[in-house]
Amino acid sequence: MKRKTILVTGGAGYIGSHTCLELLEAGYDVVVIDNLSNSKLEALTRVQHITQKTLVFHQGDIRDKHFLFEVFSRHKIDAVIHFAGLKAVGESCEKPLAYYHNNIYGTLVLTETMAEYAIKTLVFSSSATVYGDPESVPITENFPLSATNPYGRTKLFIEEILRDLAQADQNNPVSSPWKISILRYFNPIGAHESGLIGEDPNGIPNNLMPYIAQVAVGKLPQLSIFGNDYPTSDGTGVRDYIHVVDLAKGHLQALLALFAKQPEQGGCQAYNLGTGSGISVLAMVQAFEQATGQKIAYQFAPRRAGDIAACYADPSLAAQELNWRSEKNLDAMMLDTWRWQSGNPEGYR
Ligand code: NAD
Ligand code: WQD
Repeated sequence: MKRKTILVTGGAGYIGSHTCLELLEAGYDVVVIDNLSNSKLEALTRVQHITQKTLVFHQGDIRDKHFLFEVFSRHKIDAVIHFAGLKAVGESCEKPLAYYHNNIYGTLVLTETMAEYAIKTLVFSSSATVYGDPESVPITENFPLSATNPYGRTKLFIEEILRDLAQADQNNPVSSPWKISILRYFNPIGAHESGLIGEDPNGIPNNLMPYIAQVAVGKLPQLSIFGNDYPTSDGTGVRDYIHVVDLAKGHLQALLALFAKQPEQGGCQAYNLGTGSGISVLAMVQAFEQATGQKIAYQFAPRRAGDIAACYADPSLAAQELNWRSEKNLDAMMLDTWRWQSGNPEGYR
């Protein structure tokens, strides 16, 4: 059987590079497009080194229709995994138009091009941020959706666009329907166990795990824990941290499920990708210290605007329908983060 070719937008980024690695290991042909606005090509060089397999890279922007046409003409693509987008919550409040343009317009150009080439199998990176401030935890996929910042709204709007798209040609007898999986990631952390690829944020990290790792390696003096008066077990925020390799594997399971559908069986379904366990910030600091033997200096600071107390997944739909479960525990998340950070204190630079 001919090997399937997967187009990965944003494939040089943190989650994209880990997913490319899993795709290559599983025997797919991989074509990446990325404008390298928040990533380094070195990540993909290392993916090829680890797997001893090659992928095709095209540098360009998903909003550039001519560029997309060129890529779609050159390769016989079977499905698209769409990671490309901007993801910093704070920056999205300062530059909302940049976020709407990149994320929403980018997805429009991509899906228009896919339709023109009759490629209608898509896995999209959404986020637990679309649940806003949930009324309770754990969160199931049918919880009400909302957003508290422009970044979150881009995810919410794109989800709606994709649902409309799938709905529109459900009963169209002349063309095969869209088959779309929306994956709502909780908090991805960790790195590939080789320690060669990982998260490489620009400047001072916004997210907890890279911040802890940079304190440990001596790049930052101490962690500020945002809030110790939340209604949680120890007063600090609770999240569902998931190993990025587990997350990457979730994309392969989503693809398999889409490929297994009958040709006329379209649709758009969202899945939570999380572990189902909520961990507090203090517990994260302790887990890192225990796993790595590194001490993390911290102080308590006021709550960060827009943060919520607790957010964790009910991941049972992905277990039932995608045959996917997270496998790696907190210890592995900490050790793999530390292997990457200590071996690459300056990231890919
Ligand atoms: P990342 O920034 O590391 O990867 C995104 C990649 O897309 C980068 O390589 C960037 O250069 C590229 N890109 C951005 N705009 C582009 C454009 N217009 N054209 C071509 N390439 C473009 O981010 P990540 O953490 O790997 O996230 C991947 C996806 O998952 C994003 O859509 C993000 O919103 C989503 N997501 C991330 C998290 C998280 O915590 N990391 C959580 C939930 C959802
Ligand atoms: C986790 C916990 C903080 C940093 C964000 C986005 C979300 C998704 C994942 C893309 C919280 C606390 C953090 C620090 C701290 N991204 N914290 N000190 O906010 O759950 O989710 O990334 O879709 O949309 O909002 O992740 O890692 O920033 O924070 O105390 O220096 O750590 O308050 O409780 P968050 P995070």
